[in-house]
Amino acid sequence: MRHLISITDLTTNDINAIFQRTDQILHDGFQPTLAHTVIATLFFEPSTRTRLSFETGILRSGGRVISVTDPAATSTTKGETLEDTVRVISSYVDAIVLRYPEAGAASRAAIVSTVPVINAGDGTGEHPTQSLYDLYTIRQALGRTDHFHIVCLGNLKYYRATRSLVRLLARYPNVTMTFVSAPELAMKTDILDELTQQGINYQVTTNLTSVLPTADVVYQTRMQKEWLSDTEYQRLKDQYIITPSVAAQMKPGAIIMHALPRVNEISPTVDSLPQAYYFKQAALGMPVRAALLQYWLQT
Ligand code: NCD
Repeated sequence: MRHLISITDLTTNDINAIFQRTDQILHDGFQPTLAHTVIATLFFEPSTRTRLSFETGILRSGGRVISVTDPAATSTTKGETLEDTVRVISSYVDAIVLRYPEAGAASRAAIVSTVPVINAGDGTGEHPTQSLYDLYTIRQALGRTDHFHIVCLGNLKYYRATRSLVRLLARYPNVTMTFVSAPELAMKTDILDELTQQGINYQVTTNLTSVLPTADVVYQTRMQKEWLSDTEYQRLKDQYIITPSVAAQMKPGAIIMHALPRVNEISPTVDSLPQAYYFKQAALGMPVRAALLQYWLQT
């Protein structure tokens, strides 16, 4: 039995197999590969896309779902621990998709679970399934998963999606990375140290304009009020906004990505531009997550 807690739990062979399966789904439609399975989606933190794309992917693959969407309506309110909840629910289902507001929660769940645990976001830790479809999106847009320059922008300290993505991209040849943020929201040193150890070419800067012309991907992030003080949030929230004039400085074929939800950080006037890829990215989350579960529960 395998859990998916960090993006590093996926081998490159796993990723290739999941992408091939996604290609097949997009080309031929869904097969009822998850018939007779019941999967629990336990969301102890708000979610729109992640939970609904997982659940749609399960249903379209012939599986069934039980769900927690409101932790206040569970025994958590009575003081039950995550471990006890997971221990019990894992005896009912074939897999657990878990979102929880603390980093490390998914690995705590995996210790007691008798079925695979898929991390759907653990606080400021990781968001591996997001990165999986981010990479699939890059593959569709650029036609490759190597030899490109990605600019990660904004809230890099707390944003779990970019933490997992950077870890993932580090294994592909010639991916250069630029981290653009206010110094207090810089990518944490645990990730930067990993990149240095792996000999990855990265730079850290506050200057977006200087790196836009060479970017193939600009990955924008949300200023997450939930991790910032009110004064920090007010000071930092509008520092890097993507507008049509920012998009115009990107080279032809370059794309703007975002895990969504967005607030102010990408102007809606960008949405109709060819660089705007974030809604296509969100749409790909569903088939990639379906392919992941089909693959995970069969191997
Ligand atoms: C992100 C998340 O929850 O980590 N959303 C998502 O899953 N697509 C980003 C965010 O919190 O803004």
